[in-house]
Amino acid sequence: MILKIRRPDDFHVHLRDGAMLRQVARHTASQFARALVMPNVPPIDTGPQAERLKSEIFQHVSPSSFTPLMAIRLTAKTTPETIQEAKRCGVVAAKVYPQGVTTGSHGGVTIDQLQQMGAVFATMQDVGMVLCWHGEFPGPGWLSAEQRMLPEIRKVVDDFPRLKQVLEHISTREGVEWVRRCPDTVAGTITVHHLFLTLDDLGGRGQFGRGGMLQPHYFYAPIAKEDSDRQTLTEAAIEPSGKFFLGTDSAPHPIDRKFNVDAGCCAAGVFSAPVAMAALATKFEALNALDRLEDFTSAHGARFYGLPLNEGSMVLEKQVWVVPGTVAGMVPFLAGEELGWKVADVEIASR
Ligand code: DOR
Ligand code: ZN
Repeated sequence: MILKIRRPDDFHVHLRDGAMLRQVARHTASQFARALVMPNVPPIDTGPQAERLKSEIFQHVSPSSFTPLMAIRLTAKTTPETIQEAKRCGVVAAKVYPQGVTTGSHGGVTIDQLQQMGAVFATMQDVGMVLCWHGEFPGPGWLSAEQRMLPEIRKVVDDFPRLKQVLEHISTREGVEWVRRCPDTVAGTITVHHLFLTLDDLGGRGQFGRGGMLQPHYFYAPIAKEDSDRQTLTEAAIEPSGKFFLGTDSAPHPIDRKFNVDAGCCAAGVFSAPVAMAALATKFEALNALDRLEDFTSAHGARFYGLPLNEGSMVLEKQVWVVPGTVAGMVPFLAGEELGWKVADVEIASR
């Protein structure tokens, strides 16, 4: 059995730079026609910085087969002019990282600073730039951080009714329901890992657990939550509203940052790019919703961002595929697990 879908987009990926970019770029570009490149590592705060990173990406992948969509970080230093310049440089989105909530967010914004950013949001609204949110409230209270951030975002939704906004990597039932209640200017991305895992898996106790041993490769931000949250996310991924679409949040870290024995700590992030589409097909089949996959990966996001649908296609084949233990020198998401589907072919030209 095969499944042929329009070429997909990834509306949230960490490609990094330097040696890491060289290792991981093709794993995104071989599956996705376009990807929104997150601006946290390396920090990308201006249009010219985004242009430089885009050129670096093109040292590793061909512009004829892959289009990086660039984003900048919003910081306390961002001005309306920063936004206008970024727009001229082709930047499509700007992202809020609340301070200290994840990798590379020490330069992020506090809630007080956020309240001073009205002129920046107004300019984004005027020039048509999408506002992406790492939706976690800074400070203590990890498990409730997403819920507590939603009212802060809602203020911006109400104050800027034409500004398109995305709640990135939704991890809770409350986040899904909040996006559903918001106007159509608001959408949400869903990762592959949040569709598969719960906090139990991180703690080694769930379906993907390993005898109670903590699983560093399942550690990411926002952290996996309860099964009821995961269940609501799967319902959102297959719903036809157009409000939810794929953003893998594939976030590679060198193995010595995932297992930093000297420092006794572990970086947050899942390297899911190599398995994203095969894992999604497996999940959607289990949900009896294979016919919903194309909308989630190849239509809803493009429509929200006002981009044309991709030409070309991806062929997935129903066959057992055991995810390799390492890819590009790192441990990919679901390493060693058996998936029911595999990417068989990608056609870049129109189908
Ligand atoms: O787990 C994560 N890793 N979440 C993020 O928000 C950032 C990412 C990274 O850059 O490593
Ligand atoms: Zn991310």
